[in-house]
Amino acid sequence: MIYIVGAGPGDVDLITVKGRDALSRADVVIYAGSLVSPAHLEFCKEGVEKFNSASMTLEDVIEVMKRATEEGKDVVRLHTGDPAIYGAIKEQMDELDKLNIEYTVVPGVSSCTAAAAAIKKEFTLPGVTQTIILTRVEGRTPVPETEDLERLASVGASMAIFLSISMIEKVVDKLRRGYGKNVPIAIVERATWENERVIFGTLDDIAEKVHEAGIKKQAQILVGDFIDCEYEKSKLYDKDFTHMFRSSHGKNK
Ligand SMILES: C[S@@+](CC[C@H](N)C(=O)[O-])C[C@H]1O[C@@H](n2cnc3c(N)ncnc32)[C@H](O)[C@@H]1O
Repeated sequence: MIYIVGAGPGDVDLITVKGRDALSRADVVIYAGSLVSPAHLEFCKEGVEKFNSASMTLEDVIEVMKRATEEGKDVVRLHTGDPAIYGAIKEQMDELDKLNIEYTVVPGVSSCTAAAAAIKKEFTLPGVTQTIILTRVEGRTPVPETEDLERLASVGASMAIFLSISMIEKVVDKLRRGYGKNVPIAIVERATWENERVIFGTLDDIAEKVHEAGIKKQAQILVGDFIDCEYEKSKLYDKDFTHMFRSSHGKNK
């Protein structure tokens, strides 16, 4: 069986119990060495075969999975954060489907929620926004025109921008035009790693602060009023608001 597992953002204890179990049983592990902590491999059994996918092509990865499956072995393909977000897993799953090889996907803690935890904020505040946009700016991979950051910013939602810290000027420029006002920004570099760094700013000063700190990769750009604003309290815990699990004044049904 192939397990496509989200390793979480960095801290080894942020993998799921299911992911750790699969990892500790695996005969073969293919891990994204550029972003996944090597400390995860300490949970593998003795004699496990390890492959760092940083130096492998899609064909190489599939070949390892195919051979291991033929030998009746369990394989863990370890991705950073949650594998469904910029994980390039679709192309792997399509190849496995063609070969009739079974697989299962184990979700993980994404770096975007890890970054929100690092700054102790909530993306979805009543009266502010109920929407989160996960996006990136175009680098070598293009972004559809309809999803241009300027256009997305005009929604006024909370945003987590991946893969874009090296283009911070471009990000700020598009956000300024889209939001049409200044807005709080937090940069979280290496969220949950021991050397995690957080920088707060606004559209006016964040690019300068990022350059001063020398942050060039592995960072989340969190944007939106949720970082610093007034908000309304949640109806869920409001004593005058009843719902299916609670009648009035906090009495449980
Ligand atoms: C290829 S994407 C993978 C995203 C991953 N699947 C996830 O759910 O977090 C890599 C990008 O995720 C972000 N990233 C990954 N790990 C991070 C971390 N620990 N702290 C901050 N950003 C991180 C950065 O923006 C980086 O450029």
